[in-house]
Amino acid sequence: MEKFRIHGGRRLEGTVRVSGAKNAALPAMAAALLTSEPVHLRNVPRVRDIVTMGKLLAHMEAQVEMSPATPDAVSIRAERVSHAEAPYELVKTMRASVLTLGPLVARTGYARVSLPGGCAIGARPIDLHIQALEKLGAEISTEHGYVEARAQRLRGARLLFDKITVTGTENAMMAAALAEGESLLENAAREPEISDLAALLNAMGARVEGAGTSTVRIRGVPALHGATHTIIPDRIEAGTLLVAGAITGGELLLTHCEPAHLTAVIEKLEQSGIVIRAEAKGLRVHNGGPLAAVDVTTEEYPGFATDMQAQYMALMTQAAGTSVITETIFENRFLHAQEMVRMGGQIVVEGRRAVVRGPARLSGASVQASDLRASASLVLAALVAEGETIIDRVYHLDRGYERLEQKLGALGARIERVN
Ligand code: UD1
Repeated sequence: MEKFRIHGGRRLEGTVRVSGAKNAALPAMAAALLTSEPVHLRNVPRVRDIVTMGKLLAHMEAQVEMSPATPDAVSIRAERVSHAEAPYELVKTMRASVLTLGPLVARTGYARVSLPGGCAIGARPIDLHIQALEKLGAEISTEHGYVEARAQRLRGARLLFDKITVTGTENAMMAAALAEGESLLENAAREPEISDLAALLNAMGARVEGAGTSTVRIRGVPALHGATHTIIPDRIEAGTLLVAGAITGGELLLTHCEPAHLTAVIEKLEQSGIVIRAEAKGLRVHNGGPLAAVDVTTEEYPGFATDMQAQYMALMTQAAGTSVITETIFENRFLHAQEMVRMGGQIVVEGRRAVVRGPARLSGASVQASDLRASASLVLAALVAEGETIIDRVYHLDRGYERLEQKLGALGARIERVN
């Protein structure tokens, strides 16, 4: 299993390019199932989840092109979908496989998708995805660990989500795009990735309005056509890099990012004393002096993203004072805290709250990554720890960060991938 070896204590400096958003590229790839014509995507990060989604679509007999010559381009042509199934072997490695459920049933009238099961950060059911598709007229049964959905043609409906769900909203949008009549999604997720999916669907001939607000109106069309679309920048990678610059007392310029998607993160970082400036070429971050402890509560967009919570915790270990981090989206998303404690962090977890006392002197240790964002937070902690840190199970990190060790290495970090 691959690991990272990191020697802490180096100040990061320089310019770094933010990759395309994994969480926007995944639904965009699934949306290609909605049409028999090619969908060309640009600014797709070459990370493991994207490769997994490519395999999944190929399993459904779509043609998927990912050329090493143009690593940020993915072209998909689902001329026929002869095998409308997402098997357990692929779903278990990537929950976002469930994004194929809506497009498959809308396009072919049938879908069989493995239930994802729990994951390290919580139970993560898909009941809201299923309810939405049932409202649109699909008949759903669950057997042998698989969800089976059947429909003639889906019918537009009013969908009120009990709870805000990002991929649930995306699944419903893709299904409603080909349904007969109008659908109204209420209490929809407002993440930028939702707006990006709407932009792609509209480029394919769909009629989606209101994406990015909590009410999305979709007038179904009988068929969609091919399109070319550029994926938005990854706001979580950008946030992680902002913290990397700040935590090491360095100065970075992040290019190809979208500051408007980072408002909540920038606000918290600024409150803790970090200086962030929007420039013509991107975002410049530097550490304005000692860091101050600032509380944070994760929320749905436009609030502070749960996907930035672990990285923020790493930062708070270095801030003077006590910060309270409250996780409201997932019930078990503090696994990184115990690993940071092993590095010298002063963190106490009580249910959904973590209390961090700083600044703590971190020292290098052997630690284990438990999920994607937890891995990133351990990298950040290792960058300021004294001595050597070995991070095991970096396959979690490879699911969502493109060449992170190369990007950080180019900025002056001592980081290498070892077997
Ligand atoms: C997406 C993101 C993930 C991010 C999360 C929250 C992708 C591919 N992944 O995941 O990186 O951490 O949003 O911002 O975009 N829930 C239910 N029933 C459902 C669906 C969700 O109870 O049917 C619950 C979940 O357990 C969780 C909450 O709703 O507590 C929000 O989850 P959701 O927004 O669905 O997360 P994902 O779309 O899986």
